[in-house]
Amino acid sequence: MAEFKVAPPDASAGEKLLTWVDNRFPASKLYKEHLSEYYAPKNFNFWYFFGSLALLVLVIQIVTGIFLVMHYKPDAALAFASVEYIMRDVPWGWLIRYMHSTGASAFFVVVYLHMYRGLIYGSYRSPRELVWVFGCAIFLALMAEAFMGYLLPWGQMSFWGAQVIVNLFAAVPFVGPDLALLIRGDFVVSDATLNRFFSFHVIAVPLILIGLVAAHIIALHEVGSNNPDGVEIKAKKDPKTGIPLDGIPFHPYYSVHDLLGVTVFLMAFTGVIFFAPEFGGYFLEYNNFIPADPFKTPPHIAPVWYFTPFYSMLRATTDVMINVLVVIIGLAAVLAVLKGNLPSKAKVGVLVGAVVVCGLLKTFDAKFWGVVVMGGAVVILFFLPWLDRSPVKSIRYRPSWNKALYGVFVVFFLVLGYLGIQPPSDIGTLIAQVGTLFYFGFFLLMPWWSQIGEFKPVPDRVTFQPH
Ligand code: HEM
Repeated sequence: MAEFKVAPPDASAGEKLLTWVDNRFPASKLYKEHLSEYYAPKNFNFWYFFGSLALLVLVIQIVTGIFLVMHYKPDAALAFASVEYIMRDVPWGWLIRYMHSTGASAFFVVVYLHMYRGLIYGSYRSPRELVWVFGCAIFLALMAEAFMGYLLPWGQMSFWGAQVIVNLFAAVPFVGPDLALLIRGDFVVSDATLNRFFSFHVIAVPLILIGLVAAHIIALHEVGSNNPDGVEIKAKKDPKTGIPLDGIPFHPYYSVHDLLGVTVFLMAFTGVIFFAPEFGGYFLEYNNFIPADPFKTPPHIAPVWYFTPFYSMLRATTDVMINVLVVIIGLAAVLAVLKGNLPSKAKVGVLVGAVVVCGLLKTFDAKFWGVVVMGGAVVILFFLPWLDRSPVKSIRYRPSWNKALYGVFVVFFLVLGYLGIQPPSDIGTLIAQVGTLFYFGFFLLMPWWSQIGEFKPVPDRVTFQPH
């Protein structure tokens, strides 16, 4: 046990109270470790706003969610009307509901930008692998949270979106139909589904999310933040104080700095809430203003925008795409055997592996592989710290063509997102297939391409212009 402290006799009542608390709970210690004596690199830029913004949106979602639950009815016969009641009759109900629905989209905007920052500055690299892995787990939980939340208003899109996505699980070989039944609690999406999704959406997943966010920040504060230069500030410390030379206390410097981000964010957020809460049908889909009708399938079912890049990849996985994959894997294996500097045992392994994978690809349905591709697109992110073999972290010191590569990656991701919203078309499917191949190629070939090219010298200290 830490030594018992005694407040000096002339201490104020506040100081005495704090001493009393500190003797029983590490309040001052936590404040120092995570705020006033957490030394963050002094060269943070715009990209570093999104972590604190993600925290802000998490709080907004939890608080507005608590108020929504006071009036919402998780019952297939009452849910749609209870949301309309919130919108029309509950005082300020419309504001709370629009904050929550806009907050869902804002969460993904902020988190996608936050993840992209990690990607360009190599923030997932050693020693921050766990920060990244916890982040990926947060992303998965966030997707589950948004998917289940979308069923609750019990509109046409809620119902049919859930129907389509849960049916995907039925494509899993052997256990699929039972798995889909387990998720729905019924043979079709029904009141039972609504009840379990409600339970997961309001309690189970938020608890997991909060736990993961805590783990994410604890892991980050254990190793310290990365920065746009990808230089470890802990490598150069003041010999007397032991404080990193390029570090500044999080509070007050970044607490005030982050307030700027919060202000700009809230301007955009309130702008959407007050002037465009449906956001042209992207944040709240028009079909969801029609109550769920199990007997009337809408002509075009599309998930909300933040799922559509992954949905596009699912739709791109057709029989033709499987054949293309078989050819690519076959050629890669032959190339590895002929040109690769491998021992003969490894060559046999490569050939056998390729035959097994191609056999599996042709054995199961393309629909099942679509589900694997969609899930794999998220799962692959977990492995990023071990796929990147570049000698430097930040894009600033990587070969210049890397910037173009990351740019094309972003363009394909956006195009995949756009295509996922559109009804399927031949040309759309073809572009989505190229985009899917690029997405997986980007990650799977990273161990190779991240090592090649001319790297720029990384400075000893961070680059910083006072402003
Ligand atoms: C609810 C969602 C999330 C919250 C509240 C959150 C919160 C934070 C905060 C407060 C920071 C420190 C400030 C900053 O560097 O911007 C941070 C850093 C970081 N986060 Fe997240 N995060 C979330 C999701 C994610 C996701 C989905 C990923 C990646 C898959 C991720 C990866 C990272 C990384 C790599 C860092 C360290 C960045 C650096 O030091 O350069 N986070 N996060």
